[in-house]
Amino acid sequence: MSFSPEWLRLREAADHRSRSLVLARRLKTYFSDHNAVTVYDLGSGLGSNLRGTYRWLPRRQHWVLVDYDASLLAAARDEIERWADKVSPTQGIIDAEKDGRSLKIEFRCRDLVADPAPWEGERPNLVTAAALFDLVSAGWITRFTRAVATSGAAFYTVLTHDERAVWVPRHWADADVKAAFESHFGGDKGFGASAGGDATRLIAEMLEKDGYKVERGQSPWTLGAQDRALIASIADGWAAAVRETGRVSEADLTEWLASRRGAGTECVIGHEDLLALPPRL
Ligand SMILES: C[S@@+](CC[C@H](N)C(=O)[O-])C[C@H]1O[C@@H](n2cnc3c(N)ncnc32)[C@H](O)[C@@H]1O
Repeated sequence: MSFSPEWLRLREAADHRSRSLVLARRLKTYFSDHNAVTVYDLGSGLGSNLRGTYRWLPRRQHWVLVDYDASLLAAARDEIERWADKVSPTQGIIDAEKDGRSLKIEFRCRDLVADPAPWEGERPNLVTAAALFDLVSAGWITRFTRAVATSGAAFYTVLTHDERAVWVPRHWADADVKAAFESHFGGDKGFGASAGGDATRLIAEMLEKDGYKVERGQSPWTLGAQDRALIASIADGWAAAVRETGRVSEADLTEWLASRRGAGTECVIGHEDLLALPPRL
């Protein structure tokens, strides 16, 4: 499954402002006695998660951005070079400064299906991911959480789809469109049948069994007049997914989409964040 850079750029500001602040502050507190951390960001796309998370972490950060899309990794490098206050790119690595923090950033092209734990011999302090866990299957979550627990890393994931969605004003086709969209969401996104809205609960249960202290927090997109382009893009994505299911007639879907793309549409689209802290030895 591929993700366009335009879509990832369009959602970045909403993603950052929607995160659970409670969990972000807990993350900051947890690492407050560290001077430096090594962080693996899985399914890193254009590096949005790094830009949304770095300010909660200690002054020296070593990030490894992992994605299977080499073109997104290359674009991430450009985005980070534009975003940082100062950069000194060396071969394959960026040394960057941002708001008084120093960040060493590596890029790794890996398929997470084959390797859910791409840290190899390294011991990351934190494994993180944004908008990834609604793609994965229950089986993959089992392999992944086992690998995280073995590494002893903390785990922080944000913006996992959670099936809550409210569109305003109401449209008579909302319920049918939403049901069809959710059935499509449970499809295979390359990791086996997607755990969909169950992903966060499954991660929590599995890491709790390994002694992790898990907290969950809501991070819904709350979108209004200033987010017209994002709302239109979400509506387009929903319509495309619903069309593939064949559960809503083309005429009804066309009418629903025209209404959702129109001025005055607002929506709340549910997401969840999760922070899992390892048992202190
Ligand atoms: C919804 S995007 C999120 C990107 C980024 N984390 C963000 O928040 O903007 C999902 C990302 O996961 C990556 N991805 C999907 N399947 C993957 C796989 N099997 N291995 C590695 N990366 C994968 C995609 O290329 C994409 O960059």
